[in-house]
Amino acid sequence: MHCVRKVTEDLWWVGADDRRTALFENIHPIPDGVSYNSYLLLDEKTVLFDCVDWSAAPRLVENVEHLLNGRGLDYIVLHHLEPDHGAGLWAVLQKWPDAAVISSLAAQRFMDQFGFAPVQAERVVAKEGESISFGKHSLTFYAAPMVHWPDVMVSCLEPGGVLFTADAFGTFGALNGKLFNDESDFEHTRLSEARRYYTNIVGKYGPQVQALLAKVKGLDVKLLCPLHGPVWRSNADWFLGKYDLWSRYQPEEKGALVVYGSMYGGTELSAEALCAALTERGVETALYDVSSTHVSKLIAESFRYSHIVLASVTYNMDFYPPMRDYLEDMKALGLKGRTFALMENGTWAPAAGKLMGEFITGELGGTVLEPKVTIRSTLKADQAGELAALADTVAASVKG
Ligand SMILES: Cc1cc2nc3c(=O)[nH]c(=O)nc-3n(C[C@H](O)[C@H](O)[C@H](O)COP(=O)(O)O)c2cc1C
Ligand SMILES: [Fe+2]
Ligand SMILES: [Fe+2]
Repeated sequence: MHCVRKVTEDLWWVGADDRRTALFENIHPIPDGVSYNSYLLLDEKTVLFDCVDWSAAPRLVENVEHLLNGRGLDYIVLHHLEPDHGAGLWAVLQKWPDAAVISSLAAQRFMDQFGFAPVQAERVVAKEGESISFGKHSLTFYAAPMVHWPDVMVSCLEPGGVLFTADAFGTFGALNGKLFNDESDFEHTRLSEARRYYTNIVGKYGPQVQALLAKVKGLDVKLLCPLHGPVWRSNADWFLGKYDLWSRYQPEEKGALVVYGSMYGGTELSAEALCAALTERGVETALYDVSSTHVSKLIAESFRYSHIVLASVTYNMDFYPPMRDYLEDMKALGLKGRTFALMENGTWAPAAGKLMGEFITGELGGTVLEPKVTIRSTLKADQAGELAALADTVAASVKG
């Protein structure tokens, strides 16, 4: 049975939800699933925009077959050749071998490297600013290199102002039948997963996303059609605003993310006490255990907040290994401009604070507020003043 949704008079969503894959890219948990979006234009020519993951290819083929209703498929436009959108090409070309494949030159190369298209498939290279007519509609291509991979392009379909945005403006989470952004309460049900998607998948490529946003500004866009998650037909400026902040590494909220690493609970309780003190001072906080929170969530929250408090045990004269994984990930994704505060624990020679501070200033280009709090196994009642002073310092910086 097909499952399609109408996007405009001539354009249909023909993709598929995936609720079975546990880890996106075999790294990031997707407890709410993910969608692989494809779209089909029925004009004088018939055009499929992007394919889906291999696992969803039978559903794509069934959806397209249903809507074509006996017509042939003239073109397949591939905006991005990563296998979550390119692998389904093989199945589509088995069914419609005469379809011409339109993509960037880099995507053609990747197509061959992955083996997604038989050599005899007809290919058209899409170039920056070039247009192709499909009848009533024409499509113009814009390169968006490294808005996830080097092959990425976006395209704008007119009339209608439909922008196919590849991995940009995507969201983790299956659609569950709700194709459009305003068919669910996006801010409260999807934003945190959209943030986790952006920051971990595309987060490293802020300057490239800025370049794409500049191109989008010059177009009269009415619909954003990404490869994952809802189609934006209203309030898109709000979401573009989030992308603008994320890609400039600017926080969305003034507040303190508190991440602790603790084996026996002493550091944990200290971090909790700091959160209580910050809350009393009117500071928005979020508290996470570095050991039990997936690093993709920590990264998303790090993009979100202006301040980050790290509380770590000393572990074999280093800071806690899961804390290092988190900070290394932050470095790899290029997150900049955060202000940090530190709490360290050590039973015989506390060193975590100094070492985290060196990592932050040396590797992350971050700022560290002083002084840090040192805990010897457990925070003592006579350290209440130190804790209050740290809370005052963080609160003043957050509000400043
Ligand atoms: C495997 C291991 C290695 C540790 N290495 C050090 C260390 O090098 N220096 C130190 O002062 N404390 C060290 N500690 C003690 C912890 O840093 C910390 O003081 C203790 O775990 C209490 O904090 P918690 O209740 O938050 O786990 C180590 C503890 C463990 C279990
Ligand atoms: Fe991708
Ligand atoms: Fe993707």
